[in-house]
Amino acid sequence: MNDVEKLDLKRGVAIARIPDHGKLSGVVDGEDVLVVRRGAELFAIGAHCTHYHGPLADGLVVGDTVRCPWHHACFSLRTGEALRAPALDSVDCWRVERLGDTVFVREKLSLSVPKRATNAPSSVVIVGGGAAGLAAADMLRREGYAGPLTIVSADDSPPVDRPNLSKDYLAGTAQEDWVPLRSPDYYRERKIDLLLNSRVSSLDTKRKQILVENGKAIEFGALLLATGADPVHLPIAGATESQVHYLRTFRDSKRIIAKTASARRVLVVGASFIGLEVAASLSTRGISVDVVAPGGQPLERIMGAEVGLFIRKLHEAHGVTFHLGETVRQVSGRTVTLTGGTNLDVDFLVLGVGVRPSLALAEQAGLAIDRGISVNEYLETSVAGIFAAGDAARWPDPNTGERIRVEHWVVAERQGQVAAKNIVGARQKFDAVPFFWSQHYDVAINYVGHAENWDAVEIDGSLDARDCAVTYKKGERTLAVVTISRDLQSLQAEAGMEAELLSPKRQVA
Ligand SMILES: Cc1cc2nc3c(=O)[nH]c(=O)nc-3n(C[C@H](O)[C@H](O)[C@H](O)COP(=O)(O)OP(=O)(O)OC[C@H]3O[C@@H](n4cnc5c(N)ncnc54)[C@H](O)[C@@H]3O)c2cc1C
Ligand code: FES
Repeated sequence: MNDVEKLDLKRGVAIARIPDHGKLSGVVDGEDVLVVRRGAELFAIGAHCTHYHGPLADGLVVGDTVRCPWHHACFSLRTGEALRAPALDSVDCWRVERLGDTVFVREKLSLSVPKRATNAPSSVVIVGGGAAGLAAADMLRREGYAGPLTIVSADDSPPVDRPNLSKDYLAGTAQEDWVPLRSPDYYRERKIDLLLNSRVSSLDTKRKQILVENGKAIEFGALLLATGADPVHLPIAGATESQVHYLRTFRDSKRIIAKTASARRVLVVGASFIGLEVAASLSTRGISVDVVAPGGQPLERIMGAEVGLFIRKLHEAHGVTFHLGETVRQVSGRTVTLTGGTNLDVDFLVLGVGVRPSLALAEQAGLAIDRGISVNEYLETSVAGIFAAGDAARWPDPNTGERIRVEHWVVAERQGQVAAKNIVGARQKFDAVPFFWSQHYDVAINYVGHAENWDAVEIDGSLDARDCAVTYKKGERTLAVVTISRDLQSLQAEAGMEAELLSPKRQVA
C-alpha cells in the first residue's frame, strides 16, 4: 500500500473494520499508526518498532501489549513504553475516540510520567559496555534512579549493536553510524558517565570498590557485572597474528572489513552462528569463502541435523565451500592445510569457535561461580547488592527448571533491564523465555525457548521452501521452536511458553 492509499485514521473508520483483539493500520498526519482493539478498549500507537522498524501490524497482541514480529520487542499499548528489549525507545501514542460505530484517532498524547525509584543506592556502577550494561543504565534512568551512574567498559567504543558486526555492517550494507546504540548526547543528557578503554582489574566486595587497570578506584552503592564473553582463541600452527581474526568488538569488525579491500579468499574456522554469519557477509562482498569445522552439519548441536543441513545448503547455494569433520592442521604463508590434506590458498582466517564467559573479575572477588557468574532469580550474585547479567551470568531458568547461561542479545538486554529494576528495589524475577535470531543472506532464523537436548523434532512446513516451524520436544513438552518466515508463530510459541509457566500444573510442579 503506498501513502496515497493509506487509511486516514483521523477521518474515522467503522468499528466493524477492527476485529476484537485485532489491528488496523493507517496514517495520522503522515505518520503510520496502528489501532488495536481489545474488547471495549481501543489504542493507537506508532506502527513501527523502534528497534529496526519492524511492522507492529504483523506482531502479536498479548494482554495490553503488542510484540514485534522481528525480534520480539514488547510495547505497552497504553503508554507506548518499550517494556522489553531489544527496543529501548517507546513508540508514540494517540488518543482514540469512538463516536457511535466510528473510531477516530485524534491528537498525539504525551504520556511520559516520571517514575521515582523506591530504593536509591548511593551510586550504581556497571562493569561492561555491551548489551546488558547499556540496557541496565537505560532502565535505571527510566525507573527514576537519579544518582551517580557509571559504565566502565574495556571496549574502545561506546556500546554498539553487536549483532550487526557480523551481519549488515560486515556485509557493507549498513553504515558505520548505525552501529553505536546511542549517540554521545544520550549519555550526556542522562548523566551516564561512560568510561571507555577501562578494564576493571579487581573488585573488593567488602569496601564496595572496583579498581580500573589505569589505577582509578571507583566506589559503588550497587554493582552490575555485565562483562559478557570473550572469543575462544585457538592456536593455529604456523599462522601469523595478522592472518587470524576474531569477531567480538566494533574494532574487530572494522579490522576484517579493512582486510576485505584486497582479499579474494577467506577461511572461516568454526561453523558457529558467528562463523556462518561472517561467511554470509563476506560472500555478499564477493569474497570466496571456505568453512572448516570438526562436527557434522553446521549448528547441529543447537538446532538438529535437519536445520543444520538446510543452513549448509543455503550457504553452498551462495558459493560457500564446507570442509566438515576436519580442522586446520597448519598454515604456511598463504597456504592453509586441513587435517584431511586439502590445501587452501587464503588471504586470512576468521575464527568463530565459540566464546567463554568473562569471569575473571567475579572469580577474583570470590563470587559464586557455576560455569558463569551464579545468580539467583533476581539476578543477584552471591553477594547482596552485586548483580550480574548477560553472557556471563548463569541463572535459574523457570522455563526449563535448569540453571542456564545463554549467549543471546535479547536475553542480555532483558537481564540488564531486570537487574536495573531490582537495583532500585523492584524484586522482579527474571523469567523471560530465551529468544535469539540469526541472519544468513535473506533468511532470518528465529529461536524461542531453550533446548540443550531433545527427544523429538517436528517440522511443520518446509525448510527448503524457507517456510516452517521446527519444534524441539522432550516428552510432551515443547522446549524450543525455530521458525523461518513464520514470525507470528514464533511470537505465539513464546506466548505459549509463558502461559505454560503460569499454568497451575507448572506452579505445583
Ligand atoms: C558478531 C556477533 C554477532 C552476534 N549476533 C547475535 C544475534 O544475531 N543474535 C543474538 O541473539 N546474539 C548475537 N550475538 C551475541 C550477543 O551479542 C551477546 O549475547 C551479547 O552481546 C551479550 O551481551 P553482554 O552485555 O553480556 O556482553 P557484551 O555485549 O559482550 O558486553 C560485555 C562488555 O563487558 C566489557 N568487559 C568485559 N570485562 C571487563 C572488565 N574486566 N572491565 C571492564 N569491562 C569489561 C566488554 O568490553 C564489553 O563492553 C552476537 C555476538 C557477536 C560477537
Ligand atoms: S525490529 Fe522490532 S524487535 Fe527488532
